Amino acid sequence: MIVESVKLDQFRNYKSLELEFDSGTNLFYGDNAQGKTNVLEAVYLCGTTRSHRAGKDREMIRFGQEEAHICMRIRKGDVPYRIDMHLKKNRSKGIAINGSPVRKASELVGLGNFVFFSPEDLNIIKNGPAERRRFLDMELCQLDRIYLYQLSNYNKLLVQRNRLLKDYAGYPEAEAMLDIMDEQLLQYGTVIIEARERFVRELGGIIGRIHGNLSGNREVLEVTYEKDTQISQFAARLKQNRERDIRSKMTNCGPHRDDLCFAIREVDIRRFGSQGQQRTAALSLKLAEIEIVKQSVKDTPVLLLDDVLSELDSRRQRYLLESIHDIQTMITGTGVDDFVENNFKINRLFQVTDGTVSQKN
Ligand SMILES: Nc1ncnc2c1ncn2[C@@H]1O[C@H](COP(=O)(O)OP(=O)(O)O)[C@@H](O)[C@H]1O
Ligand SMILES: [Mg+2]
Repeated sequence: MIVESVKLDQFRNYKSLELEFDSGTNLFYGDNAQGKTNVLEAVYLCGTTRSHRAGKDREMIRFGQEEAHICMRIRKGDVPYRIDMHLKKNRSKGIAINGSPVRKASELVGLGNFVFFSPEDLNIIKNGPAERRRFLDMELCQLDRIYLYQLSNYNKLLVQRNRLLKDYAGYPEAEAMLDIMDEQLLQYGTVIIEARERFVRELGGIIGRIHGNLSGNREVLEVTYEKDTQISQFAARLKQNRERDIRSKMTNCGPHRDDLCFAIREVDIRRFGSQGQQRTAALSLKLAEIEIVKQSVKDTPVLLLDDVLSELDSRRQRYLLESIHDIQTMITGTGVDDFVENNFKINRLFQVTDGTVSQKN
C-alpha cells in the first residue's frame, strides 16, 4: 500500500498543509522544532487512529483552535481509499472512510499498515517491560482485530478490577464481583496470551535472520516470550493471589505483566548487553516488524522513519537503507548528507520551515 497524499488543517504547528508523496522515498529535512515529526505523526495517526507519541487528541490540535482535520488518500493495489479524521477538544475523534463515517475508530484498523521508527525505539531492549509490551500490542492490534478487541476488553476490566480492589472494604459484594471479573479476565487474557505466543514464534525466526546479517553472523539473537502466567495456571494463580491482590490493591498476575526477552549466547541483553548489542537488536526488531507485516498481510507497510539515521553508525545505516528500498518511506532528518554518503535515492525532497513545507525536487 502507499499513501498518496495528506492534507492537514490546524494540526500541531500546521495551519493548513497539502502534500503529495512519492511511492518511494520521501525526505523531510529542516532544523529542529519546525514540524517534520508532526507530518509523520499525522500520517500514522490517520492510518492507525493513534499517535506514536501516545498523547491526547486535544494536544494535537493547533494551539488556540477548537478542532483539527486530517485527510489522507491511500492506495492498496489499484483501490484508492480516502480517510478523514476530525479531532475535537473534548470529544472522541470522528473518522470517515471514503466519506462514510465509521462508528468505532477500530474499524480503521487494518485498512493500511504503518511502521513508525523513532530514536526511542532504539532503546526498547534496555527500557522497561511496558515498552516491549507496547511494541507487541501496537503490532498485534494492527494485524489482528480480535486481539485489538480482546486487549481493549482486558484493559478495561483490569482498571475496574483494580478500582474494586482499592475500595474493597466498602463493598460487601466485592468477593463475588471479583469471581465474575476473574472469569472474564481469564477469557480475554487467554486470547491475548495465545496471540502473543504465535506472534513471538514468527518474530523469532525473522529477527534471527536479520540480526545474523546485521552482525555478520557473529552473534545469534534469540527472542522469547516471557509470560507472567501459563494459560493453564492462570485461573489458579488468580485465586492464589486474591489475598495479595487485596492487600496490594492491584492485580498481580496476568498478561499485563508479560515481557519479551532478548538473549545472545544465553546472556540476557536487556540487562547485560553492550549498547551496541542492544541497538543492533532493536534495529533488527524494527526491520522484523516490517517483514512480519509483509508476510501476514501480503502487502508492504509504509515506513515512517523519524530522525533515526543520524543515531546509527555507517554500517547499520547502510543496512537499514538497503532493507527499505522496496517500500514507501517518509524519512525525517536535519540534512541530506547521510543519504548522499550512502548513495540512497531520495525520490521526493521536502524542506520544512516553521509549519510550512516546500518541495525541492
Ligand atoms: N498543538 C500544537 N499547536 C501548535 N504547535 C505545536 C503543537 N504541538 C507542537 N507544536 C509545535 O511543533 C513544533 C515541533 O514540531 P516537530 O514536528 O516535533 O519538530 P521537528 O521538525 O523537530 O520534528 C514545536 O515548535 C512545537 O511548539
Ligand atoms: Mg522531530
